[in-house]
Amino acid sequence: MRRSFSCLCSMFLHLATCWGRRSNPDSCTRCDLQLRCNCSCRGFTRVPEVTEDALVLDLSSNNISEVTDDDLRGHASLRGLDLHGNGLASIRPSAFDSLWSLEELDLSDNRLTVLDQRWFGELAALQRLNLLNNPYSRLGSPLFDGLVRLRILEFGGPVLEELRRADLRGVTQLDRLTLHANNLSRYESGTLAKIWPLVRLTLNLQRPLLTDLALVSAVLNDVLNPETHLTLEDVHMTSNTAIQVFRDTNINRTRHLTLRNCTVSDEAVVSFLMAVNGSPLTSLSIDGLTLTGEGRWTHANWTDLSRMDEFLVRNLDLQDVFTFFLIGNLYFLVQNQRKISLINSKLFLLSCYSTRLMKDVQYLDMSDNLLTDLTLGYMLCDGEDTLTDLRVLNISGNNLKSLSTIIRLSARLTKLTYLDISRSGYSSMPPRCSWPASLRYLNVSRAKLTNATPCLSTTLEVLDLSNNDLKSFTVSLPLLRELHLSGNKFLRFPAGRLFPNLQTLTIRSNTLNLFGGSDLQSYRRLENLQAGQNKFVCSCDFVGFLQLLLKGGGNISLTDEEDSYRCDSPLYLQGASVSRVHLSVVVCHQVLFVSVSCGVALLLASLVCVLLWRLHVFWYLKMIWAWLKAKRSSQQRQRRSNGEGSEALISFDAFVSYSERDASWVENFLVPELEEPSGPLQPLTLCLHKRDFLPGRWIVDNILSAIERSRRTVFVLSENFVRSSWCRYELDFSHFRLFDAGGDAAILILLEPMTTDDVPKRFCKLRKLMSSTTYLEWPQEEEQREEFWRSLRNALKEET
Ligand SMILES: *[C@@H]1O[C@H](CO)[C@@H](O)[C@H](O)[C@H]1NC(C)=O
Ligand SMILES: *[C@@H]1O[C@H](CO)[C@@H](O)[C@H](O)[C@H]1NC(C)=O
Ligand SMILES: *[C@@H]1O[C@H](CO)[C@@H](O)[C@H](O)[C@H]1NC(C)=O
Ligand SMILES: *[C@@H]1O[C@H](CO)[C@@H](O)[C@H](O)[C@H]1NC(C)=O
Ligand SMILES: *[C@@H]1O[C@H](CO)[C@@H](O)[C@H](O)[C@H]1NC(C)=O
Ligand SMILES: *[C@@H]1O[C@H](CO)[C@@H](O)[C@H](O)[C@H]1NC(C)=O
Ligand SMILES: *[C@@H]1O[C@H](CO)[C@@H](O)[C@H](O)[C@H]1NC(C)=O
Ligand SMILES: *[C@@H]1O[C@H](CO)[C@@H](O)[C@H](O)[C@H]1NC(C)=O
Ligand SMILES: *[C@@H]1O[C@H](CO)[C@@H](O)[C@H](O)[C@H]1NC(C)=O
Repeated sequence: MRRSFSCLCSMFLHLATCWGRRSNPDSCTRCDLQLRCNCSCRGFTRVPEVTEDALVLDLSSNNISEVTDDDLRGHASLRGLDLHGNGLASIRPSAFDSLWSLEELDLSDNRLTVLDQRWFGELAALQRLNLLNNPYSRLGSPLFDGLVRLRILEFGGPVLEELRRADLRGVTQLDRLTLHANNLSRYESGTLAKIWPLVRLTLNLQRPLLTDLALVSAVLNDVLNPETHLTLEDVHMTSNTAIQVFRDTNINRTRHLTLRNCTVSDEAVVSFLMAVNGSPLTSLSIDGLTLTGEGRWTHANWTDLSRMDEFLVRNLDLQDVFTFFLIGNLYFLVQNQRKISLINSKLFLLSCYSTRLMKDVQYLDMSDNLLTDLTLGYMLCDGEDTLTDLRVLNISGNNLKSLSTIIRLSARLTKLTYLDISRSGYSSMPPRCSWPASLRYLNVSRAKLTNATPCLSTTLEVLDLSNNDLKSFTVSLPLLRELHLSGNKFLRFPAGRLFPNLQTLTIRSNTLNLFGGSDLQSYRRLENLQAGQNKFVCSCDFVGFLQLLLKGGGNISLTDEEDSYRCDSPLYLQGASVSRVHLSVVVCHQVLFVSVSCGVALLLASLVCVLLWRLHVFWYLKMIWAWLKAKRSSQQRQRRSNGEGSEALISFDAFVSYSERDASWVENFLVPELEEPSGPLQPLTLCLHKRDFLPGRWIVDNILSAIERSRRTVFVLSENFVRSSWCRYELDFSHFRLFDAGGDAAILILLEPMTTDDVPKRFCKLRKLMSSTTYLEWPQEEEQREEFWRSLRNALKEET
């Protein structure tokens, strides 16, 4: 029943810690910049794929039941592996073989019933190993033999029954050892004896302490030496038998003792005090103390605890609050210590009488109790002489409301240097105050302050005002080295000239929008700055400045994580880490960008123009445009004259295209010969631009209509022709007409000998015509001209 209940509990805990986290069955990519991969609480049922560069891999609180040989292969650089809380039941013998660099391994809270020496065979670098809370009943073969670097070892669990000398062979040098041996029933004397120098030893021997004191003595006698800081966990002492341990073992040589989770009766307290009477114990800490009795400790009033320097009780629980009556003669408990802490113990009153007894106290920590301004007044004897040696006073986390009260009460604590009044209800600061001149450190964080006035002592070196409601800070503090202003409502940095000695400034989680060199320049000595988690406006200046700072440029280092500097605006950068933002030139140098790009565009445009001009593209364009326009008007014309029949359109036998310079040849030879022939020859009608073009019409129109109204087009080719642009149009139009008509409408006459090569390349049409159409050459000799004319006539008369 109990077991199933605890099982339910642990399942619930598992659910609670893992609540709301999604899982990805195969791989885990949640690695930070330092290559620490946190794959905790993701519901993995097997070791996920993780980058092989990972340095730390946290797989805790998953449901990985087995680690196979391949799961961690290749992770040669892994330093830390955490498999805590997985229900892990099986690990293959060579599962960790590739982890040569592993320094920390946590296998605690799993279901390993047998431990295998082969797991650790290759882990020569291992420094810290945690095997706690697994259900193995013995360690087995010498597990740790090869772990020469091991410094921290934690093992044991609820069913560990036996420890033999061979189990810890090879373990000789540990700094810290934790042993949970609640159910230990066999201990071979000497098993832990060789370990040295044990700085901290934590033992959980709950059941043996109740039932088998001989075993406890054997363990303690093996491990204890005066330098070892001993912690005993889960100590349940309600009879004085358990206390016997403190008498029978050399625990009485221990100087530092911590009891954690400790339940004691009055009887046990008295026995304990008697046992430590005159012992060299210098520090006693009890964390989690449940007192079942009524405070009848008078039998121990003579206890000599003069060597005890430090006494700490945290989390005190009085089971019988109403009958508990701690009598005033316990002054021996507090008489000699310099350091007293009574933390979280529901203490609401400490009388002036008892504090007057604490004449040596220099450090008093009463944090997390129920003190009020009134009871604080009693405790400090209303400002009269008490605690005159006090250097440190911590009353953090009490029900204090009036800052003036603590200022008044502390005035006589002339040695006070350190005052922690954080987590209180202070809401306003008086305008002027007088603090002890010795005060150097003041912590008023997590209060409700809305203003900071010159009340703050000018002697302060460290001031913590974080998590208040401050908006500005204008008090000059010439000696201040550290200022904490995180969690307030600052819109800008306080002026640096107020703190000429400031070295550390934290101003995280405020409402800063941006900061720059000018803000920080006034802090002459600033070295460390934390300003993350603000609502940064990622302007170019800010991003540039911060990236420089993050890289370590300048004398100020940013000591908080890079990732806490995130952009809040502009919108498209919201949430982006400032260190990874790349603002483009367009955004950062707008004017420069615009002028340069305009210049480049202009240059390009002119280059293109030159190129186009060189390639005569303009000429082509002009021509196509002209042709299109002409074509349209010709179509209109055609539509208009459609009724008159197509023949009516043709009114000339030939349109003669020639250059003005060849006009004399046309007028003197061609026209007379063809239009007014001698003899029986039929006259032909020619269309000449000079004569037949309608004045007032657009020339291209004229050309086109002339070509259309003629059956043929005669080109009079010469050097001049090639140079005349109108002729080129004519040529081109006729060329189009060739396609329109589908026949051989063009006739070429070469006035002077020319070859295709004499025609410039861009007149590709002319060149093509010259090579495809037979042309007539104008003969220089008279006698051959007859033949020329005949050929021409024939060509003209042919049906197209
Ligand atoms: C890993 O993440 C879990 C929550 O997912 C958190 O509780 C834990 O502290 C993280 N561990 C480290 C080392 O940051
Ligand atoms: C863990 O895995 C086992 C099977 O391997 C399953 O029975 C159990 O329900 C799982 N637990 C959780 C919390 O996912
Ligand atoms: C403690 O050990 C005994 C044997 O010595 C065993 O019978 C018992 O089950 C163990 N207790 C627990 C809680 O495992
Ligand atoms: C405190 O010790 C008691 C035994 O004395 C144990 O039952 C309990 O679980 C412990 N509590 C914690 C929080 O460890
Ligand atoms: C400490 O305990 C041992 C017994 O283990 C005893 O012989 C010795 O006298 C004790 N020392 C003191 C100072 O009580
Ligand atoms: C201790 O208390 C007894 C009475 O219980 C008293 O007689 C004795 O003087 C006290 N010793 C000291 C040192 O106070
Ligand atoms: C005062 O107590 C709080 C809570 O226990 C602690 O955080 C703080 O560090 C203590 N201050 C000093 C000066 O020890
Ligand atoms: C001030 O007190 C708070 C809360 O007790 C603590 O967390 C903080 O570390 C203290 N500040 C300094 C600078 O010690
Ligand atoms: C850094 O400090 C040195 C002297 O401490 C000073 O000369 C130098 O100008 C400082 N550099 C910057 C960037 O402030």
